[in-house]
Amino acid sequence: MPTYIKQGDIPSKRHIIFEKPEGGLYREELFSTHGFANIYSNKYHHNMPTKLLENRIFDIEHGQPWQNALIQNYKLDSRVLDRPGHFFSARNQLFYNADVAMYSAKVTEDTDHFYRNAYADEIIFVHQGQGQLLSEYGVLSVKQWDYLVVPRGTTYQLKFDDYQDVRLFIIESMSMVEIPKHFRNEYGQLLESAPYCERDIRTPELSAAIVEQGEFSLISKFGDKYQQSLLEWHPFDLVGWDGYVYPWAFNIQDYAPKVGKIHLPPSEHLVFTAHNFVVCNFVPRLYDFHPQAIPAPYFHNNIDSDEVLYYVDGDFMSRKGIEAGYLTLHQKGVAHGPQPGKTEASIGKKDTQEYAVMVDTFAALKLTEHVKHSMAADYPSSWLE
Ligand SMILES: [Fe+2]
Repeated sequence: MPTYIKQGDIPSKRHIIFEKPEGGLYREELFSTHGFANIYSNKYHHNMPTKLLENRIFDIEHGQPWQNALIQNYKLDSRVLDRPGHFFSARNQLFYNADVAMYSAKVTEDTDHFYRNAYADEIIFVHQGQGQLLSEYGVLSVKQWDYLVVPRGTTYQLKFDDYQDVRLFIIESMSMVEIPKHFRNEYGQLLESAPYCERDIRTPELSAAIVEQGEFSLISKFGDKYQQSLLEWHPFDLVGWDGYVYPWAFNIQDYAPKVGKIHLPPSEHLVFTAHNFVVCNFVPRLYDFHPQAIPAPYFHNNIDSDEVLYYVDGDFMSRKGIEAGYLTLHQKGVAHGPQPGKTEASIGKKDTQEYAVMVDTFAALKLTEHVKHSMAADYPSSWLE
């Protein structure tokens, strides 16, 4: 999605004969979005990507809806929910609506399964851990505090160097995750004024095709339903590909924040857009430079958005009792703002070292039972003095 990429061997034109040196044809797969009307990639396989041995139902439980959750401000410790699992089975669903779902995960083990989220793009924020994202498109290095943007339909595996301390925050988007249009010029290049540019974006490197026959387990997620497909050929059998659709990485530390004379609204810290929600982030930055500025935010009531914050690192300026791995949900229709003492404490401060990921959804979020089991019950009344 960031830009056009070509890797490996591809024919001179789309949809023409492309012969293997040993004879026979490579198999072209068009991987397209919005029908055939938006960005796409063309992938060239050694084998037909349809060579299926068997399909089976597969069960993964991510969390039950919490039917009677109050509309209020929430704080929760996602670490309470930690359980053994690999990069897609360990996900605990916290919040969801028709546009987006959010999960935390403590990944404790590797798996040989391949994974494909068929209906949703994923933004995987790697809070702790490093390794590689392996996909048909090649190898993408994974660093701590990366956003990994994985288009729907991508067959991939996440491999970590070790599984002592791997923690993820996953945003599942039912619409395409995009770099905000106003970050780009008319040619698609990221603008001088954008908070990141092409140099900050890492893309997969294709190496030799894996041409192995056997029985390979692909777990696909179709909305709430999982299915296991046994494939005859290793899915990473590409000799080449080109296009705009592929997984990519952007590290939160490469985000260049805006600084204002007086407090800038959170929307100035935008990272990604999608239909009906946005992702912003808070990163270390200088505070406002008006001599009477109040760096802490004002009380606000986002009357048309629910606001989720995932706390990554540093001392968060407007909240008390927050540690890395905590989340807050401030729901629309309910005011929130700095906790007692935080406004006064922020006056005169020159900078902040906080890191946090924020998801603002324009439709109300629903909660799962995981929130009930990890929430601080006294948070809604924590503004009392
Ligand atoms: Fe807020």
